[in-house]
Amino acid sequence: MSQRPIIALDFPSKKEVASFLANFPEAESLFVKVGMELFYQEGPEIIRWLKMLGHSVFLDLKLHDIPNTVEQSMTGLAKLGVDITNVHAAGGIKMMKAAKAGLKKGTKTGAKEPILIAVTQLTSTSEEEMQQDQLIEVSLKESVIHYAKCAKQAGLDGVVCSALEANDIHQATNESFICLTPGIRPRGSDVGDQQRVVTPADARKIGSTYIVVGRPITQAKIPYEAYKSIKNEWNGER
Ligand code: C5P
Repeated sequence: MSQRPIIALDFPSKKEVASFLANFPEAESLFVKVGMELFYQEGPEIIRWLKMLGHSVFLDLKLHDIPNTVEQSMTGLAKLGVDITNVHAAGGIKMMKAAKAGLKKGTKTGAKEPILIAVTQLTSTSEEEMQQDQLIEVSLKESVIHYAKCAKQAGLDGVVCSALEANDIHQATNESFICLTPGIRPRGSDVGDQQRVVTPADARKIGSTYIVVGRPITQAKIPYEAYKSIKNEWNGER
């Protein structure tokens, strides 16, 4: 089965999401990403609604708190039926293990446990900032690899990373460790504020497991056409 790119629903409220989704055939099951912006406005109901419409959901809330709080919160997120969710690896191995345990607890009998991935260093953080603000004295790349290994050790399924880091991460962990990668731009499209972009076809070649695509689809004149073209490129069907 061909794989779906994950569409970043970076909209301020359900109203905008509904008019965006109206661009797609009703029967088309999408994989969407809901981030803090939308979740904090609409609450858990937005997830129930997207699931009810038949879509898969990556809930990108990047949890980072004491293990007990993260565990209880993850139990609640699993009950919503999310397909992928995440934490900050900086929360530590104990916290990541607690997150995983929480998801397990909240998963309904017979249902698939949500995939859990970790954010390593945010791509908005420069090496200089990381060294100064976090007092981490290694290179940014070493820090990313270290966090990926911690996530693996904690039993997580993968990390959010740049497609350009996927190869190194796979080498440091294993080939089946998930590399979910934003910063994707089809050839010739507007780069926007992203710095290091990769095309869907190259992301596939380098080793991304999932790609997250926002504006090239959400801001397209005909979103469904843009989606299909990116999906084909991602699946090597062009
Ligand atoms: O519109 P665009 O394709 O740039 O959107 C990418 C999405 O992925 C946004 O929701 C952005 O917040 C998210 N993201 C990212 N880089 C990261 C982590 C998340 O672009 N390192």
